[in-house]
Amino acid sequence: SVVNVVLSGGVGSRLWPLSRKSRPKQYLPIFEGETLFQRTVSRNLELVDEVLIVGNKDNFELSRADMGKLNIDQYSELVEAAPRNTAAAIAFAAFQCKEDDVLFVTPSDHLISPGAAYESAVDRAVTLAQEGNIVTFGLQPTHPETGYGYIETAGEEVLGFHEKPGPERANAFFKSGQFLWNSGMFCFRAGMFLEELRRYEPQIFDHSYGAFLSKKGIYLPQQESTKIPSLSVDYAVMERSEKIKVVPSAFDWSDMGSFEAIYDYLKEKGHYLDDAGNMVIGTEKHIEFTGLSDTLLIFTNDAVLALKKENSQEVKEVFQRLENER
Ligand code: GDD
Ligand code: MG
Repeated sequence: SVVNVVLSGGVGSRLWPLSRKSRPKQYLPIFEGETLFQRTVSRNLELVDEVLIVGNKDNFELSRADMGKLNIDQYSELVEAAPRNTAAAIAFAAFQCKEDDVLFVTPSDHLISPGAAYESAVDRAVTLAQEGNIVTFGLQPTHPETGYGYIETAGEEVLGFHEKPGPERANAFFKSGQFLWNSGMFCFRAGMFLEELRRYEPQIFDHSYGAFLSKKGIYLPQQESTKIPSLSVDYAVMERSEKIKVVPSAFDWSDMGSFEAIYDYLKEKGHYLDDAGNMVIGTEKHIEFTGLSDTLLIFTNDAVLALKKENSQEVKEVFQRLENER
């Protein structure tokens, strides 16, 4: 069968203070009353046979509530006590499934327009996955973003995969026209993924398997999990595998990963902004800017963040500092 593996363990640290550990961004009902998690599950429901949610102990109840709102009760869950990044999260899903199951792995925090372009891309990916490939989805870059992976392509062939390049390389990739953004969704047979993981990251493979074997019901134990090297699937497998293919895709896609992305989304929706690129989110207060440009103000009940739009990636460090101070 085709299984939609929904990754929902991230905390969305680049969207602090909107996104909190207690309510990561994929559970914020800010998209016409829906959450990105709900949208992810409903977008894929007709395209797959099963749904498997890999979340963590701090948020799996939010996933359950969202599934309830969608009236879906046929699905499986895995709950991580200690999130160890996406290579391990996907490994758990692969261990849980049958070797020949096709895993369609999706983040839960992207904004994607469903429709023909999306469906045909997923369809093609499933076919390539059944043929034994590790499949990525490639999107046309619109700016030299440093928060994404870049895929050097020739049709469906992948010449190279480069996760989160620095500004200079991102610029060169963007200009060359030979690179697509990695969407963050993947498709492969469970067995094929595990084979590649074992080849390139035997430590992650072994310790994930150890943790998986000692799981209690849906719960993956803390103690075993902390031994797993914390690495994203992009570095662990995508940059190294020779089985990788890409489906060049044309669906509307936005990673709501940073305030810059939120800014672009809201701007398109006609959210108030001035000509200098300033924006305010989360308050009804009247706010004026003088002598400031590209400045964003984010209000929540208990915190305010002021940032320069181009520093959106650095909010992660604020989040981490606050975590460490706790
Ligand atoms: N279960 C689980 N456990 N899920 C996790 C964990 C974990 O430890 N860590 C992250 N996730 C989930 C996040 O919630 C998100 O839905 C997804 O996995 C991807 O993680 P991100 O942390 O958002 O990755 P990224 O945005 O930095 O980079 C990835 O996505 C980009 C596109 O949005 C990469 O694949 C890039 O190459 C890609 O361009
Ligand atoms: Mg992301």
